[in-house]
Amino acid sequence: MQSVTDAALGNLSLDALLDELLTRIRDALEADTCDVLLLDAGGTELVARAVKGLEGEVEQGTRIPVGEGFAGRIAATGAPIVIDDVDHADVLNPTLREKGIKSLLGVPLRVGDRILGVVHIGTLAPRDFDANDVELLEVVAQRAALAIDRALVHDELVRLGQVQRDFVALAAHELRSPATTVYGLAATLRERRPQLEQAAVDELEQMLYEQADRMRRLIEQLLDLSRLDAKTVEINRTVVALRPHIEQIVRSVVSDPRHIDVRVPPDLEALVDAAAVEHVVGNLVTNALQHGAPPVTVTADCEDRHLRIVVEDSGEGVGPEFVPLLFERFRRSEGSRGRGAGSGLGLAIARSYAQAHGGELIYAAGETTGARFELVLPTQPTS
Ligand SMILES: Nc1ncnc2c1ncn2[C@@H]1O[C@H](COP(=O)(O)OP(=O)(O)OP(=O)(O)O)[C@@H](O)[C@H]1O
Ligand SMILES: [Mg+2]
Repeated sequence: MQSVTDAALGNLSLDALLDELLTRIRDALEADTCDVLLLDAGGTELVARAVKGLEGEVEQGTRIPVGEGFAGRIAATGAPIVIDDVDHADVLNPTLREKGIKSLLGVPLRVGDRILGVVHIGTLAPRDFDANDVELLEVVAQRAALAIDRALVHDELVRLGQVQRDFVALAAHELRSPATTVYGLAATLRERRPQLEQAAVDELEQMLYEQADRMRRLIEQLLDLSRLDAKTVEINRTVVALRPHIEQIVRSVVSDPRHIDVRVPPDLEALVDAAAVEHVVGNLVTNALQHGAPPVTVTADCEDRHLRIVVEDSGEGVGPEFVPLLFERFRRSEGSRGRGAGSGLGLAIARSYAQAHGGELIYAAGETTGARFELVLPTQPTS
């Protein structure tokens, strides 16, 4: 136990800490493998974060719903679980079975009454974990949890610092061009107005208005992004009736809603943040008309505790070379750069909203040529 605590005392990044901790826990308890799964941002799934012993054999990124299977039940109940015979138990992680793990012991990683995740050990030979083993792993997990919590905060601070530096540089760079144009137009009007024809003045004023509007929009978007980066955007889940909500979003962003076919079951409900859905879907529908072409269809369904909303248009779609760049900040394809006054932030912001909600926004080309975006958000049954 002392050796585990020593590792926990070091000032390590999360990856380095887990690497060290898992080896020591595994050796101290004479197990063949030791795994750590951490709760995701939404708190509804455990994500495999590190494994020691059967390296590469438990896939990184394996996701287990809280409440289900071995690890999921530990996270849900906060109590240890022993499985003497994996073959006859409810273990969701397929790789644990495939690799022939016979016995498992898992406990929650807890700081105060917050559960961060689960740590479990496994053996290839059948073993009866006894009360001493449980107690030892619990004590070790308690100390490990404190260290993991601290490392998570540390990693987050490092990330935020980097994000902030990148953000200031990018924002200044992007604001410079509309700011220069606004200044140039205002200076021309101020100095040359008396010599100019009325039509020329009108034109300059119109350009000044458009550039100022573009700058205003850009500043709104930058503020949105900085709030998302700093994680100060609150996610409030409520029961949302999806059909009326999506119809209202469409009306608010599209002048002629007839171009948009909302195919959502009238009784579909989900426990999600209505504002996040509005940001993402509003953006996708705007893009579908701006960069794609009508008709646009919006579909939604709920399955396996996930809400999936798909927006598909009938334009030319996204070229394969641009797909990996779609969600990057300030990225616009060659073709769309000339069109309209977009800044290339819409999809980056939309994806950040999805992720703040514990979900994801992806581009998943469909059968047709048009663009097709999928928003997936974890949710709970509403009844
Ligand atoms: N439905 C679509 N069909 C084809 N290309 C698309 C589609 N949606 C987005 N794109 C491409 O992805 C780029 C990035 O989209 P994004 O929404 O981030 O920025 P934008 O629409 O150009 O500007 P903003 O949303 O900030 O006003 C677009 O410029 C366009 O090239
Ligand atoms: Mg856009």
